Amino acid sequence: MRGQINPRRAIAEAEDSPAMLENRKGKLRLDMNENVLGCSPKARAALLRLDAEDFSMYPEKENAVERLAPHFGVHADEMLVTCGIDDALRLIADVFLERGRRVLLVEPTFPMYRFYAGQREARIISLRYDSGMNFPLRDVLTALRSAPDVFFLANPNNPTAGLVGQREIEEILDAAQQTLVVVDEAYFEFSGVTMLREIRRRRNLIVTRTFSKTSGLAGLRIGCAFAHREIAKLLKRAQAPFPISAPALAVAEAALKDKVFVRRYIGEILQARKILINGLGRLGIRTFPSAANFVLVDFGARGPSAISALRRRGILIRDQSGAFGRPGFVRITVGTSAQMRRFLKALEPLV
Ligand SMILES: Cc1ncc(COP(=O)(O)O)c(C=O)c1O
Repeated sequence: MRGQINPRRAIAEAEDSPAMLENRKGKLRLDMNENVLGCSPKARAALLRLDAEDFSMYPEKENAVERLAPHFGVHADEMLVTCGIDDALRLIADVFLERGRRVLLVEPTFPMYRFYAGQREARIISLRYDSGMNFPLRDVLTALRSAPDVFFLANPNNPTAGLVGQREIEEILDAAQQTLVVVDEAYFEFSGVTMLREIRRRRNLIVTRTFSKTSGLAGLRIGCAFAHREIAKLLKRAQAPFPISAPALAVAEAALKDKVFVRRYIGEILQARKILINGLGRLGIRTFPSAANFVLVDFGARGPSAISALRRRGILIRDQSGAFGRPGFVRITVGTSAQMRRFLKALEPLV
């Protein structure tokens, strides 16, 4: 082959990005922490109201931010819209990470933090959740003394589903005087704990939110990041001019307005989560406390065979053996109460 085209070393040496499962439509999707009820009908109607001009114009994201910001109680210059939280994380990596910089993680956590940090050749300082899935606050405070550049914290965390309290995060932010703390609140609506109110008085904080979970818009790809206006300005400087499609912006706004849909969905999930956890307990399966719309469980040695048997029956759950270094750990998305009963019935003969 003639000619030599050289990618950056970090990409040449990286593993291929993991293939995600496809052909999931119509199955009982308990594997991706999506909203299993779909999105608000009012949000879908907003898409149908768009006309040909809306489709032919480049999207006006700053106008959209002006309209969305009051729903979050922030000013437009403290907020960015992004193509899902994934895109916000890439942007944060673009602005704050490069070779020689350091990233603090408490793992297992959302894998995209490590993915983007690795692509920027940042060094990872990895702490671990303990066997009870407790957050190692003291270790984090100690690690912050060495002033890593960025600390990514999913709260609630994926895949453990645990929550770090507001006071503990304040302690972290106080200790992180030279570290940017990214609090990823993808599952905020289920926990109610947020650091959003802190962005105005702290320059070392970014909060991320998504429309993929509670709003049921994972397919549209829209999320947002919030920060002190000086930090938000840096992120906006690195952002492409049209990162979000006009349909995504229009639908997200309608979804935010439909508070009844969101309240009902959360109510259903909290109820169904109890059914799931109690049912698993009756089957002798260990679960860990959840502040989100999913539950981490330990099936032990039965894990791999149960996952494949369920898949053959059209029920998808997420294997987490890679994250924990041994088979048995599984993440189960909470669906409706009826779906949880169906899942438990299918599981019973397998464990
Ligand atoms: C903690 C966490 N952050 C971010 C995301 C991705 O969100 P988005 O769909 O907005 O990119 C997920 C998705 O599972 C997640 O679990």
